[in-house]
Amino acid sequence: MRKIELHEVGPRDGFQNVSEYIPLETKIRIIDGLVTSGMRHVQITSFVSPKAIPQMKDARELAANCVGKYPDTDFFALVPNLRGAESAWESGIKRVSYVVSLSESHNQANIRRSHEESFAELQNIQKALPKLDVCLDLATAFGCPFEGTKTKDDVLRFLKPYIESGIKTVNLCDTIGIANPAQVRRTIQGMKSEYPSVDLQIHIHDTRNMGMVNTLAAVELGVDKVQSTLGGLGGCPFAPGASGNLATEDLAFMLSEMGYETDVEVGQLVKLAKYQAAQIPSGQFSGHLYMIQDEKEKQ
Ligand code: COA
Ligand code: ZN
Repeated sequence: MRKIELHEVGPRDGFQNVSEYIPLETKIRIIDGLVTSGMRHVQITSFVSPKAIPQMKDARELAANCVGKYPDTDFFALVPNLRGAESAWESGIKRVSYVVSLSESHNQANIRRSHEESFAELQNIQKALPKLDVCLDLATAFGCPFEGTKTKDDVLRFLKPYIESGIKTVNLCDTIGIANPAQVRRTIQGMKSEYPSVDLQIHIHDTRNMGMVNTLAAVELGVDKVQSTLGGLGGCPFAPGASGNLATEDLAFMLSEMGYETDVEVGQLVKLAKYQAAQIPSGQFSGHLYMIQDEKEKQ
């Protein structure tokens, strides 16, 4: 049975889009629930400017709590700069997602840097923290709210210096949920033939209801690390129209029904998604399964 690694990114990509502060205890309870549901890879926070994303102001406390409690879980975090990478490392995080947008305008809107500055900052991180595992999150890899569609060739060209500088894992992110399965296939096939040693991951938003088909297209081409958020909570505060991620429990359900192994307990995840929705009433969710359970309970 083929195994698919689910990488839960809700505590970062979901929570960052909620404007009112989610209490630290609630975040911890959700992460506890994820781990007990069998989730082995959790992006727990981002080490960013609290002025840019106030929700992440508790990053250090949250990381310290979780890393100490579950030493066998792969807790990773998003960082936009060296300062964030240093904070992550000091908090016990061994793996970070360094985010750069394929679209220069989105890179400026998101992290206020040119492409050149982002690349230089990656080199600063690699030099300062040689033991930190740095994965590249390529945001707007399929299209951008400001610059339109991005092609396979745009991706391959952009990544060349990153891969030459030692990046071994690339996460292709459809930040605004604009990709289609044919485009996902083209980009993944291009990556596999141009950079066969790169470990590929995929992160697809569900904005246009294509999160599941796009993720499945990637899985069927051999991608075995996929990102999603509990309940489909999400968005990107710096990409207009980017509402809703692909829901982890819906994805896990589909994969297990298809015979893939995922490690997680779908029923427990559904209950947790429901708990989360009750705790975050203003959240934008795209999940389906936790609502079905609601309907059953009403009958
Ligand atoms: N962690 C905490 N604080 C940080 C930080 C980090 N990683 N990086 C910068 N800061 C602080 C600085 O100390 C400074 O604080 P001050 O105003 O009190 O002196 C402030 O943030 C601005 O720093 P500066 O280096 O001038 O950054 P900037 O204003 O050009 O913003 C980023 C650049 C990258 C720090 C900011 O845009 C950011 O954090 N973006 C994150 C975006 C994000 O998470 N998007 C969603 C995920 S894809
Ligand atoms: Zn995202």
